Amino acid sequence: MCGIIGLTCIPGSTPDRPSLMVYRGLLRLEYRGYDSAGVASIPTGSSKVVVLKGKGKIIELEKKYGFSKVDGCTIVAHTRWATHGAPTDINAHPHTDCSTTMAIVHNGIIQNYRELRKELVDKGHVFVSETDTEVVPHFIEELYYKYKDIYSAFKKTVEVLEGSYAIALISVVEPDKIFFARKDSPLVLGLGNGFNFVASDIPAFLEYSRKVIVLRDYEVGYITPINVFIEDLRKNRSVGYTHRVRFIEWSIEDASKGGYAHFMIKEIFEQPRALKNTLQGIEGDNSFQKAVEILLDADRIYVTAAGTSYHAGFYYSLLMQELAGTPVVPFIASEHYVYERAASEGDVLIVVSQSGETIDSLMALRAFKERGARVIALSNVIDSAIPRESHLALYTRAGPEIGVAATKTFITQALALAWLAVSYALASGGLSSSEAEGIRGELRDSPRILSELISLVEEKAKMLSEWMSRKSSVYYLSRGIGLPVAMEGALKLKEIAYIHAEAYPAGESKHGPIALVSEGFPVIFVVPTDNYLEKLLLGNVQEMKARGAVAIGVASLKTSLGDQLDYVLPVPRTHWVLTPLTHTLPLQLIAYYTAVARGLDPDKPRNLAKTVTVE
Ligand code: M6R
Repeated sequence: MCGIIGLTCIPGSTPDRPSLMVYRGLLRLEYRGYDSAGVASIPTGSSKVVVLKGKGKIIELEKKYGFSKVDGCTIVAHTRWATHGAPTDINAHPHTDCSTTMAIVHNGIIQNYRELRKELVDKGHVFVSETDTEVVPHFIEELYYKYKDIYSAFKKTVEVLEGSYAIALISVVEPDKIFFARKDSPLVLGLGNGFNFVASDIPAFLEYSRKVIVLRDYEVGYITPINVFIEDLRKNRSVGYTHRVRFIEWSIEDASKGGYAHFMIKEIFEQPRALKNTLQGIEGDNSFQKAVEILLDADRIYVTAAGTSYHAGFYYSLLMQELAGTPVVPFIASEHYVYERAASEGDVLIVVSQSGETIDSLMALRAFKERGARVIALSNVIDSAIPRESHLALYTRAGPEIGVAATKTFITQALALAWLAVSYALASGGLSSSEAEGIRGELRDSPRILSELISLVEEKAKMLSEWMSRKSSVYYLSRGIGLPVAMEGALKLKEIAYIHAEAYPAGESKHGPIALVSEGFPVIFVVPTDNYLEKLLLGNVQEMKARGAVAIGVASLKTSLGDQLDYVLPVPRTHWVLTPLTHTLPLQLIAYYTAVARGLDPDKPRNLAKTVTVE
């Protein structure tokens, strides 16, 4: 995925220099990709677009090119996560037509670019990059000869594109407009006074605009400094949008580091507040109750997601099994084609996605819907594609998460899914009302539990991370409800600290993985307060220690067998259902401080992007 931003304004109407506003927005989009970046603008009276771009981080490119100082009131910019074409100066966006009269920025993949490129080369167009994107300005240029109208040429071009796209285009022909189109890649408009934005995500312009329109698939149109025009490409008619303008309540601090060294640590510390918001959302409307009704009516229940969200979904499937005796099939979203064959009317699919835009999860959703299944989404981003295309949308309300590693969004997903499973178990007879109320009481108390946990465990996690940072491989083991947490801990460590980390059920050790264990090998045990405690601490910990492993446990201080462990990251004792809420935070801290100790930037792990919008 990539980040795009565009601003068009009446000269003198903006609170800051337009190029500075765009530059700041670009920095806020850097979590979406950071291998190269660029800016294009139309200086007043110019017959050419001016493009500055190159390989590297935005801050370095700013020093080299001065992105924040370009002239003009119509500007688009891009930060890239390479798909087609290596991260090079030439492949960086924006891309232009042959005559440099227009520039475009794009997020997504144009699948039919090879055919289009050949057709255009045959007509004499000269390509300079290896990207799929470059076909777009050339195609528009070609059609402009025919239509003599830039918007018609743009629309006709979008119609021939196959794949996914969020596009912003500027042209010297109509220099105060930014043309846009979206399909399967996010795009939002931000409305100001005498200026308007288009961007991949709201934080890009939140400093300057809180009035937002979330664009939908197949919408095309343009913004001027004072107008918005949106059309539905499939219906070929304009779309009313005034009822879709939303006021964003987040403060700019929510999308800023606010004095912390990194977004990731800020977001770890924000977890108690995020949980409070999730609880308010759950108890503030009846959508969770509606979800329970849909689930009670289901023949089969599936849950799907990617990465961290999958761990939350997997946790939900275990809870449903344990609390209600109801089997739920968890599957990784990119494997949907294996599972969709069995799906039919009467089935329910739960799709978990913080961004609501992950393409694998969206494809799973569409495949199940096509077969008649009902879909419930759990997302953090209101109006994003996955909740919008689902029959029912539930929200975590964790606030914007900028760090590439998911932290507060996992904890809030776990809370929401625990609530859903407990409510289902109560309604289906798996739990008595006093049992359900007991667990709900602890879930309601989770913001306080997490606040106390941070001070209890932070120093210990930091100390351990110094040692961990010199290791090259780590196991994360658990049983039952602790397993998704172990998986989440391992994912965090590998994605930001670049240390090989593997999670698996502790009982599997003897079936192969233990062969890797030698003197000093770190094994982190996630120790829930459930019936498997003894098996884990007396069995699996011992067999690892006997081979020289250092046994680290995330365990309740009151766990009687805690002295079996070499090092304990203490967590409060709660009902076992709350395991992800209590046991994940120490693992997030270990990953964070280990990455920092290795001199890495946890907010921008190599090769990754916050939302994966390519299959
Ligand atoms: O936005 P989503 O929840 O759908 O994203 C799913 C994964 O891409 C995401 O959780 C990813 O694994 C994170 N980098 C994990 O920290």
